[in-house]
Amino acid sequence: MQRFKKKLLRALFNHDPGYYDMCADANEQAFAEVYVHHIEQYLQSENIKPPAKILEAGCQAGRLLLPFAQQGYQMTGIDASGFALRKAKHHGKSVGCKLKLLRGDLFDVLKSNRVELQDALICAEVIYMIQEYQELLRLMISTLKPGGLLCVSHRTPYFYWLNSLRQGDEAAADRALKTREGALPGGDYFNWQDESDLQALYSSLDCDVLGMHPIDRFSWLSGVAPADMNAEQREDWKNYEVTQEGMERWAKYMLVIVRTPK
Ligand SMILES: C[S@@+](CC[C@H](N)C(=O)[O-])C[C@H]1O[C@@H](n2cnc3c(N)ncnc32)[C@H](O)[C@@H]1O
Repeated sequence: MQRFKKKLLRALFNHDPGYYDMCADANEQAFAEVYVHHIEQYLQSENIKPPAKILEAGCQAGRLLLPFAQQGYQMTGIDASGFALRKAKHHGKSVGCKLKLLRGDLFDVLKSNRVELQDALICAEVIYMIQEYQELLRLMISTLKPGGLLCVSHRTPYFYWLNSLRQGDEAAADRALKTREGALPGGDYFNWQDESDLQALYSSLDCDVLGMHPIDRFSWLSGVAPADMNAEQREDWKNYEVTQEGMERWAKYMLVIVRTPK
């Protein structure tokens, strides 16, 4: 009944008070700025300028679509959730940006002819939940023009370890650190890769690794959320996050930026 009510509210009023809209969340917005900071540098160095085409695979409510759309890039987002895409459309409208939004499973949409060849592709915070992630990466590469820019975030070795310890489950922490993929205590699938795994993974896909950047080390480790900071503190936090070296393995995600085969 609860599920039916939720579906009805979503369908009729585009409303779901329990939905975690990453585009409307102040913390997620702060982390989005870190992603954008890094990705922008490579768009520039690879000479990918507006109105080039950028696809986001698993875009949810458009947290990463909007900042690039506002710069004039032609943004396409794919997500399995129609509700997420309606949120993305709404957020796009509110800043005067038109987004191309495609609903469906990433594997299906990327295999179809619904997507034009892209200059760059972003896939943030999705891969860790996809069992066939290597196949998905291959599909993403085939969606890019030769030499296109692929920006993907992966879970790091210590994320599940620390998360399980914080929940008081040492056995799960130990299991998560020993195995690079498996099932979490609740049954959800997970995977993680360290930096050498990522080098090997992308080399096996004939991609040149241009850079790796941790996403969210200091907020995640300290427990201090950007949303609780004032504007000046948030700016200092962001500068520290993007410039400070060290503790990369302790980040929540590692953003890998590669150039696909020419
Ligand atoms: C954690 S959110 C990340 C959203 C966005 N990339 C960001 O960083 O703001 C993951 C999103 O990926 C979508 N997703 C996960 N697996 C998918 C699949 N196989 N096909 C399509 N969408 C998928 C989910 O619906 C969800 O909206």
